[in-house]
Order: sequence, then C-alpha cells, then structure tokens
Amino acid sequence: MSHGPNIRYIVQAGGSLQGTARVAGDKSISHRSIMLGALAKGTTRVTGFLEGEDSLNTLKAFKAMGVTIEGPDQGKVTIEGVGLRGLKAPKAPLDMGNSGTAMRLMSGILAGQAFDSTLIGDASLSKRPMKRVTNPLALMGARVDSQGEKGFPPLVIHGGSPLKGIHYDLPMASAQVKSCVLLAGLYAEGETSVTEPAPTRDHTERMLRGFGYDVKTEGNRMSLVGGGELTATDIDVPADISSAAFFMVAASIAPNSDVVLQHVGINPTRTGVIDILRLMGADISLSNEKEVGGEPVADIRVRSAQLKGIAIPESLVPLAIDEFPVLFVAAACASGTTVLTGAEELRVKESDRIAVMATALQQMGISATPTEDGCIIEGGQLTAPTSPIQSHGDHRIAMASAIAALKVNSGAVVIDDCANVNTSFPGFVSLAAGLGLAIRQELPA
Ligand code: S3P
Repeated sequence: MSHGPNIRYIVQAGGSLQGTARVAGDKSISHRSIMLGALAKGTTRVTGFLEGEDSLNTLKAFKAMGVTIEGPDQGKVTIEGVGLRGLKAPKAPLDMGNSGTAMRLMSGILAGQAFDSTLIGDASLSKRPMKRVTNPLALMGARVDSQGEKGFPPLVIHGGSPLKGIHYDLPMASAQVKSCVLLAGLYAEGETSVTEPAPTRDHTERMLRGFGYDVKTEGNRMSLVGGGELTATDIDVPADISSAAFFMVAASIAPNSDVVLQHVGINPTRTGVIDILRLMGADISLSNEKEVGGEPVADIRVRSAQLKGIAIPESLVPLAIDEFPVLFVAAACASGTTVLTGAEELRVKESDRIAVMATALQQMGISATPTEDGCIIEGGQLTAPTSPIQSHGDHRIAMASAIAALKVNSGAVVIDDCANVNTSFPGFVSLAAGLGLAIRQELPA
C-alpha cells in the first residue's frame, strides 16, 4: 500500500534550473512490461523499470499468482513468463495500491482466468469508478462484482466464464478501458475490437506487437483475435514524459534555466504536453531521437521562456491527460488567460485534479475558476500560501505545487500529504534539488 508517513515538502521561493537528468521510468510501460512478460512464453528482461509503488504492486500481484520475477534491481527485472493460461489462483486479494491503471488492466486479464480473484486498492483507488471496465467485461461474458452504483473497488472477479469477442465503442477516451478490453480479448473467442472517441496512449497495442501478437489499428479502431500466444521479448522502458513534464514546466517558468531530460518517451499519444507548452511559447527542442523496443525516445532540452495564455485545443487533452496539474502551474505563470475545456476526466483521477489544482493556485494568489470540464486560469504573480497546500494524496498535485514555488515572490510553499509521490516518481526530491529546486522534505511533528 502507498500509505507512507505524511511527508511534507518545503520549497523555498525562486531559483532557476540547470543540468541534465534522466527521470523515473514510464509508469504505463512498466505496468504493461510485467503483465505481458508474465503472460508470455519464455524469459522477458526489462530495463529502466519504474521502481515506484504502483508498478511494484503489479509486480507483486503476478508473484502472488505464481510467476517467478527477479528484481527490480536498478531498473532491471527478469520475468519467467508462464503463458496465457499459466497463472495460479492468488491466496489473498491482490492489492493495487493507488493505481487505476493496474486495477483496470488486471481486471481484463483476470476475467479470462479459470480461478476467482479479488482486486483491492487504497482509499483513493477505492473511490474511483470501475463500471467503465466492468460494463464491457460483462458484455464479453465475464462475471465481475463491484461496489455500489459507480462500481467502486473491491472488484470480485469470478473465473471460469468463457469470454466472447465483442466490439466496444469506448464512451470516453481512456487507454485503461481500451487496454482492459483488448487484454480480455486475448482470452475471448473470436475478434475483440474497440473504437476510441479520440486517440489515447497506445502502449498496450505496441507492446502486444512486440510480444509477437497481431493487433490491428485501423484509424480509431483496434482489434485482435483471441487464442494466440505471447512470446517473451526484452523491454527498454523509456523515462516517463509525465515525470519529465514537471521539469519541462519548471525550466520554462524559472528565469535563466536550461535543462536536458534524457531518453524520454515521445510516443505521439503522450506528447500533448510538448505541443501545449510550445503553443504557450515554450522553448523546447528534441535531439537523439531513436526507437527503443517499439517506443520512440529523445532527449528534451528546455530553456526559460515567457509563456502566454492560450485556449488549450481539446484534441490535445487526452494526449496530455496526466500533465494538467503542472500545466495549470504553467498557465498561472503565463501572461494572459488560459482556458481548459473537454477535460472532465481530470475529475476522476487520483484526486479531482480540477478542483484540487484550482484551490492550490488560489492559495498562491492566482485566479483559477473551475468549470465542469476544465478551468479558467489568469496568469499573475504567485505568492506564498498562508497555510500548507493539500495534495489530497495525489502524487502529481504534490509535484506540480512544488514546481510552482519557482515563481512565488518570497517565502516558501509547504505541501502536505506527499508520500504518494513514490507511486510514480521515487527520487523526485533529490533529482529536483540536483537541478536547482530549493526543496526539502520532512515528516511533520
Ligand atoms: C493510463 C491511462 C490514463 C492515464 C493513467 C495511465 C494507462 O488513464 O491517466 O495515468 O497507462 O493506460 P485513463 O485511461 O483513465 O485516461
């Protein structure tokens, strides 16, 4: 579980960022590397694995289902795959901690097993909607119980139901739901397909192909035929663009900054943050572009720039969905008004990121007006909050608020409830401090 002590960040106002860094491994790809490695035939070797609580929970879940996994040791993990039908019944509920991705993708895999299983999570995950996955799974013939009208965890998955392929029109742009249906499709009779209302991250499709499974992408429709097998492969996990984003914004807003972020995943379904920042006037350049294991990577150089407010194109929202907490900070530091619309999914993330970030910015003297599906932010001078910012246990709120301190006029920004930064970015504080952020952490008395 991700309930560490209630870590507090204290970040002194001002400063600039300089240097070169490789941020933590990609969370989405790390989860999937364990899942597909476990279900493949043969040995999968992963490098660059994110040793954060979320992906470690996925690793533990497969160990609990009889898969031999060595590591992680400095990002290296070795998985002895058991094949699609080789998992064993877990003896206890599988704890997905804080991770919506883990719970939603695992539900697809577990629906196809012969045994029963239960998925549980922490307080935040226990309030996140799972109907979005239990609905399509039920159409495929799976039996999954959830709690209440919204379908909260725990999810009790009754094994042994034969699955049949379906076509599913995703009601929302969600890579987690798409992936859940496609992973269940591995166990289904016939073809399983989804159409998505807007492009979402395609790591599942890419990695399935890397494991030798035929997945078709035709426009906004993805499909596969059940009953095949996965063949082990090696996976080089790029640095997470969602973690790099904190320093992309930091180097943009802090004067005299020049930062290079190495080996960052630049899959086009994830680069909305670069496009949005460039539209705002950011100075971002890419070099060393190459492909590793089916995923494009590059070094990203960011230098200070005067940002300007924009109307964020709705087409970019799903491509930057996890970066909005720190993009709110960019908007607060820009000249003029930034308007975000079409982002109602932010309300059902690890926290209600629209409400929580608007409150954090208001505490720092910025006009931020939440709307149902977004926010209107007037750029201005940030001031030190008079009471600690509450991250609501949301890792990205904690890190985004820390970055805002760079543009606070004096004093310090104090942020509470930061233990969950370990879910996605262990080492954030030391990496940020190394680049020049005046951050320290303590356990409140
Ligand atoms: C993820 C998909 C996104 C994203 C999450 C990771 C994934 O969620 O917010 O952090 O790895 O598939 P949704 O599918 O709910 O948009």
